[in-house]
Amino acid sequence: MRGITIPDTTSRAVPFCADECGAAGCTPTVCVGAGVASNEVLFERSQRVIPGGVNSSIRAHRSVGGSPIIVARAEGPYIWDVEGTRYIDLVQSYGAVIVGHAHPAVTQALHSAAADGTSYGAPTAREMKLAELIVERVRSCDQVRLMNSGTEATSTAVRLARGFTGRDRIVTFAGNFHGATDALLATGGSGVATLGLPGTAGVPASAVSETLVVPYNEVPVLDGTVAAVIVEPVAANMGVVAPVPGFLAGLRAECDRVGALLVFDEVITGFRLDVGGAQSRFDVAADLTTFGKVIGGGLPVGGLGGRREIMETLSPIGPVFHSGTLSGNPLTTAAGLAVLGLLDEDVYMELSARARRLAAVLRDACLAARFPAQFPVVGTLVGMVCGRLEAVRNFDEARETDTAAYARFFHAMRSLGVAMAPGAYEAIFVGLGHDDDVIQAVGAAAEQAARVASSAAQ
Ligand SMILES: Cc1ncc(COP(=O)(O)O)c(C=O)c1O
Repeated sequence: MRGITIPDTTSRAVPFCADECGAAGCTPTVCVGAGVASNEVLFERSQRVIPGGVNSSIRAHRSVGGSPIIVARAEGPYIWDVEGTRYIDLVQSYGAVIVGHAHPAVTQALHSAAADGTSYGAPTAREMKLAELIVERVRSCDQVRLMNSGTEATSTAVRLARGFTGRDRIVTFAGNFHGATDALLATGGSGVATLGLPGTAGVPASAVSETLVVPYNEVPVLDGTVAAVIVEPVAANMGVVAPVPGFLAGLRAECDRVGALLVFDEVITGFRLDVGGAQSRFDVAADLTTFGKVIGGGLPVGGLGGRREIMETLSPIGPVFHSGTLSGNPLTTAAGLAVLGLLDEDVYMELSARARRLAAVLRDACLAARFPAQFPVVGTLVGMVCGRLEAVRNFDEARETDTAAYARFFHAMRSLGVAMAPGAYEAIFVGLGHDDDVIQAVGAAAEQAARVASSAAQ
């Protein structure tokens, strides 16, 4: 494959035909007629009925140019587009997938759960077990409420913190991203930064008038008006930025001093960085923790956990309302349990080792091609910063990223069979599917891609 060998672990043919056109291998899901499927044709068709052709604006290619591949299927570390091209996937559903795509434990759990019905609107034993597992592993959580997205988790955290403390002010950090919730869109992480917008239209000034945005990695001085400080304990939406020593402990102490709640947004770091999330890795306990991504095993999910006295301020016990038709969904909880069942301390050590190896091959490739880039690693998380070699500590520094260089590298990698996120501020995700052969193949592709990206800059 264009000078590099990406190991093929599956011989299953990919069906590309979709409108039941009668061609061999035709399936009604992706065909554009006459047995020919094309990313561009399908994307064109999507744009007619879906704004921008995407259901999450972060998936669009506005910052890197071009148009997305249309995914037909995925397995282990690979995704295939509708044209039959296979890519090593470094996106892993923006971190929602950690054990590799279509892991047999997950697909079997889903098959058997689906056969029992897909939603009841009533409590289940499976949601209880998933909650027990989360509470067992994340020491600051006595209870957890399951919901449908990370955004729902952070917006509920804000409402709960305000309801519990009787205060309105929320403190957030520039460059952190907490989903598409009005009160937290006073600044942005990857999404807003990528689109180059200072905030977003449609959020009234009143929705963010009690939201204070401060620099990451500096402990702000709080006062008695602050309900909560919400922070990504490892920032993973402005590249990957580690908390400087003392930052998280300093936040804990400052929140305690004024009676504010400390909310860790662990939608990315939860069950990805460590068995007990970032708070166990950095030994700082949050009052509330938001979850998403990994706990749903690749299905839509969010979770909000915390101390019992705070959590019981939620309805039906307390006055802070929360509900969700599909919350604690049988399929999501089945997949979440299957995935968490595969994750123990040894797995996190292995994933951390793979993250270091991946960063090392990428670093070596860029050095060899004289393409300036750094690949910070925090545990299992890898970032890429083009054009700046000093460590990044906050959003102002993250914004020095050379986004044009990233776009060149992104496209060159794609043409060599490696799919990265279409935005310079996203993390690179490794999972159990990324074994040594796959990592070596990424390195080989990166060496060529970095040369192409370097020479294209001249
Ligand atoms: C740290 C963080 N919080 C919250 C969210 C929002 O989660 P969701 O996209 O599931 O709504 C994201 C999404 O990437 C995230 O990275």
